[in-house]
Amino acid sequence: MTAATANAPTKNAKLLAWVDEIAELTTPKDVCWCDGSQEEYDRLCQQMVASGMATKLDEKTRPNSFLFRSDPSDVARVEDRTFICAKTKEEAGPTNNWTDPTAIKATLRSLYAGCMKGRTMYVIPFSMGPLGSPVAKVGVQITDSAYVVVNMRIMTRMGKKVLDYLGDQGTYIPCLHSNGAPLEPGQKDSTWPCAPIEKKYIAHFPAEREIWSYGSGYGGNALLGKKCLALRIASTMARDEGWMAEHMLILALTSPQGKTHYVAAAFPSACGKTNLAMMQPTLPGWSVRCIGDDIAWMRIGKDGRLFAVNPEAGFFGVAPGTSYKSNPNAMKSITRNTLFTNCLLTPENDIWWEDMDVPAPAKGLDWEGKEWTPDCGRKGAHANARFTAPATQCPVIDPKWEDPEGVPISAILFGGRRPNTIPLVNEALSWEHAVFMGSSTGSETTAANIGAVGVVRRDPFAMLPFCGYNMADYFAHWLDIGNKLGSNAPKVFFVNWFRKNSAGKFMWPGYGENSRVLKYVVERIEGKDVGQTTSIGILPKAGAIDTAGLNVSAADMAELTKIDVDGWKKEIDGVAEFYAKFGNRIPPALMAELAKAKARLGA
Ligand code: GTP
Ligand code: SPV
Ligand code: MN
Repeated sequence: MTAATANAPTKNAKLLAWVDEIAELTTPKDVCWCDGSQEEYDRLCQQMVASGMATKLDEKTRPNSFLFRSDPSDVARVEDRTFICAKTKEEAGPTNNWTDPTAIKATLRSLYAGCMKGRTMYVIPFSMGPLGSPVAKVGVQITDSAYVVVNMRIMTRMGKKVLDYLGDQGTYIPCLHSNGAPLEPGQKDSTWPCAPIEKKYIAHFPAEREIWSYGSGYGGNALLGKKCLALRIASTMARDEGWMAEHMLILALTSPQGKTHYVAAAFPSACGKTNLAMMQPTLPGWSVRCIGDDIAWMRIGKDGRLFAVNPEAGFFGVAPGTSYKSNPNAMKSITRNTLFTNCLLTPENDIWWEDMDVPAPAKGLDWEGKEWTPDCGRKGAHANARFTAPATQCPVIDPKWEDPEGVPISAILFGGRRPNTIPLVNEALSWEHAVFMGSSTGSETTAANIGAVGVVRRDPFAMLPFCGYNMADYFAHWLDIGNKLGSNAPKVFFVNWFRKNSAGKFMWPGYGENSRVLKYVVERIEGKDVGQTTSIGILPKAGAIDTAGLNVSAADMAELTKIDVDGWKKEIDGVAEFYAKFGNRIPPALMAELAKAKARLGA
């Protein structure tokens, strides 16, 4: 036992040994076992304000809320520096960065050596999923970032109650994180310590169920319960244990007749999950409630249907574009107790971002802390600026959102940002066709990752950056789940809110108007004769999408729901090229779907 564990609030021998080992390796100045209390959260926020890392927002307009500015190099996930360190390269598959686990651990150990010098090491016990429920997974994150601690308190169930649950014998997923910026005596600290890009590593060890993250303090790189645990590690656990860990929102949709259906939807990063998850339908009489906005853990329930749980406790949402017009329920969720990262600071000490639908302040401090005016030619907020808010603050949070049984899913949507070809809504012809559709998802890249933005790439099931194993095996797992679900399988639809016209403008108004597509989905679930089978899937019959009161021309509606044969032929070629990366690992059922898709198009 060392100073790190002398007064530890646990007798869990495995945890004590690990904390000792990491403290010896990283040599922090002290160790803090996080209890998850409000007092601890307030104290850390105060410390960060004092050190210049955080700005307290005006207490009257935005109570108990803070703004953080990241280092300009540390503004998003880093897919190039994210590694799946399975035993073999084949297990990680062609879409993941693979490195030999032993070799990368040696590299990381040398980086971690002394990396917490001059800093506090925090131990954060947390639960993904309602604590103590059979679906929950417990992790312990070690970090030298107070920003991570306060974010994890919102995003997960965290603190003493998790240690109590673990007891002396309980097991957990070890999640090691450091900003990778030791502080020498007398050295002036940076307001956002982090390591240069080539020294950042977001490493996953699926066989050992461990996460080692180094060098980034941002979002999915640093809040290890989220993408690292609840998707990359959980997807491998799900494969082994027969369930699913998906990059999906979960919503409850209630019709004017009072009937509720639950829908899950997989869209890539910054492609509309938070918005759909808590949308305010424009169609009279319809209502949406939110169960989750980013991650769904799904398993087959006792009655044979697919049930979904949100493992998170908060929203880490994209700020730009969020307004009372586009997403009023998100705006109401962030009125208090919210952490903002990389937004603009107004002279009144509130935040602002582009397309907030309120006038830009005459001046402010931009996300880099530089003087900003509306005509300065720079964005006020970073395109991947985010808010961190408790899910309980969402006015339309569903009463079942913490139910460990989950909610039964009637429909699954896939989608992406596609300026052309892909129609507004297209239903799969069968489960195999659905898996084919999911596997061939393409989308324009966004600012949620550091890299080029606006380039269409294959992002199967919106899981390209998040699948912890070979994606061909992941497709096989989806096929397998479908076989088990049989006639209980949800209906599957591919949607596209992002079609553009020749002038480069979105043709579909999106946001609350997406309720028109949800209504059509419900009609299909309930067996109404509103669809027609075509060469690409089941498309809405003419007039099947309710356009009453909608300002979209009949010509645009026709364009949004037509079949672009040439575009589809190119699409199918792109899918064939993508599948070829996996050699003969692609399941035969999907090769058969590819052949059928070609044949239907006469390609
Ligand atoms: P992650 O948190 O990165 O996983 O993103 P997300 O999938 O939750 O995306 P989010 O809902 O935050 O939306 C990202 C961006 O897309 C925002 O700027 C939104 O304004 C925009 N957006 C969302 N829904 C729509 C839509 O229906 N139409 C259009 N045109 N834009 C949308
Ligand atoms: C995403 O990129 O899909 C996000 C944000 O949800 S992050 O937590 O940074 O991964
Ligand atoms: Mn996401």
